[in-house]
Amino acid sequence: MNNIHAIILAAGKGTRMNSTKPKVLQTLSNNTLLGHVLVQAKHISQKVHIVYGFGGDQVKQAINDESINWVEQAEQLGTGHAVSQATPYIEDDSISLILYGDVPLIQLETLSQLINAANSTGVALLSVVLDNPTGYGRIIRHNDVIQAIVEQKDAMPEQLEVCEVNTGIMAVNTQLLKKYLSNLDSNNAQGELYLTDIIESAVNDGKVIASVVTTDAFEVAGVNDKVQLAELERIFQQQQANQYMQQGLTLKDPARFDCRGSLSFGKDCEIDINTLIEGKVSLGNNTSIAPNCSIKNAKIGDNVTILANSVIEGAVINNGASIGPFARIRPQADIGENAKIGNFVEVKKSIIGKGSKVSHLSYVGDTIMGSDVNVGAGAITCNYDGVNKHQTIIGDNAFIGSDSQLVAPVTIGKNATIGAGSTITKESPEDQLTLSRSKQITMKNWQRPTKK
Ligand code: UD1
Ligand code: CA
Repeated sequence: MNNIHAIILAAGKGTRMNSTKPKVLQTLSNNTLLGHVLVQAKHISQKVHIVYGFGGDQVKQAINDESINWVEQAEQLGTGHAVSQATPYIEDDSISLILYGDVPLIQLETLSQLINAANSTGVALLSVVLDNPTGYGRIIRHNDVIQAIVEQKDAMPEQLEVCEVNTGIMAVNTQLLKKYLSNLDSNNAQGELYLTDIIESAVNDGKVIASVVTTDAFEVAGVNDKVQLAELERIFQQQQANQYMQQGLTLKDPARFDCRGSLSFGKDCEIDINTLIEGKVSLGNNTSIAPNCSIKNAKIGDNVTILANSVIEGAVINNGASIGPFARIRPQADIGENAKIGNFVEVKKSIIGKGSKVSHLSYVGDTIMGSDVNVGAGAITCNYDGVNKHQTIIGDNAFIGSDSQLVAPVTIGKNATIGAGSTITKESPEDQLTLSRSKQITMKNWQRPTKK
């Protein structure tokens, strides 16, 4: 059978987050907790039902997915009650896969094992063995055969000794699920309708309960507070870093590497400590990133050197270019092959031609710069008149003297030279020296003031 319906329980408020957001909207890497679960659910099921309660509109809006069947659970009367809000929308001849909106690291491989098990026996649960099982429902077996799940608060002392616990995640034939849910009562320590009670019903109905026992406690870990959120963030990052390293990326310290998005890379790329990758970033071959860089949505070519403390966003860096240290490359910057952007240089919405150098303390905005241009220290484009942005065009092989201001719109011809300290407001012709500079004078008899 491959008619799978995922039911994600997400009605919890998450009081311990101390947040205005519902718990399932807290973020892990670049997605919400619920978003992570949803990605997996969509991979493995034909239809996703989300049981929501607290902050429903906020959750729906954040997830913004037309394909989901949103089911409200107005009052939280227990996990069994939550699931039975969704089952009326699910045909009997299917498997219902129960997931939790606050258990974000669940793996597809595990879920598919669980579904296979449910296909053969009708009821399958996912358990884990914990050193400290306190708080969880215990899996009660007799000669290895599952008999029931007993909640912490309802358990007898000897049942509390059991270390195999219920993760909450189950796959159940929907017809059976509906039948067993209709038997639930709230005659228990918490006065709730426990989903876990369906296990005993199934056993009484002559069913064998299949189990998948995961050895990865993190894949079934729920998030209740910011400490647990940070723990799972580290686990997620570590797993992702391991995957990248297996694929050939050199990470100087995987514990000091974060990627909230996707990173692709060629051969022999190296990333030093404390780098943050966000959005979609690609690296060619043999590119290196020095410590403390932040890189978001960027396409970076081969043999590129990104030096320490550089910030790059929404830009293209072509083969052989060198960036930083302390450079800021902003959206729509396209840095040409073998170009050099040095320290304390900001580039925005500009094309920097092949081999051009902007080495120190510059701002280049709304500029089209040819190849082999040299921009001296402190030279800037004045692209903004307070209302509109204007363009600067700089021809190949031009030389912009230090501390010059190019007041846009303005064009600097090919091979032109701009004398240091110039304020350039008019076209500067090819091959010639243009400068604007007040005459230097020396005051002969001038004396420094002295203290009275
Ligand atoms: C539940 C299980 C327990 C298991 C544990 C794993 C039951 C009765 N117990 O216990 O066996 O070891 O999870 O973490 O199922 N929820 C709703 N609506 C409700 C109640 C809960 O949506 O009416 C959601 C919560 O938001 C939460 C999840 O279901 O995401 C689990 O609920 P919770 O009350 O935390 O169950 P536990 O007592 O932890
Ligand atoms: Ca819980």
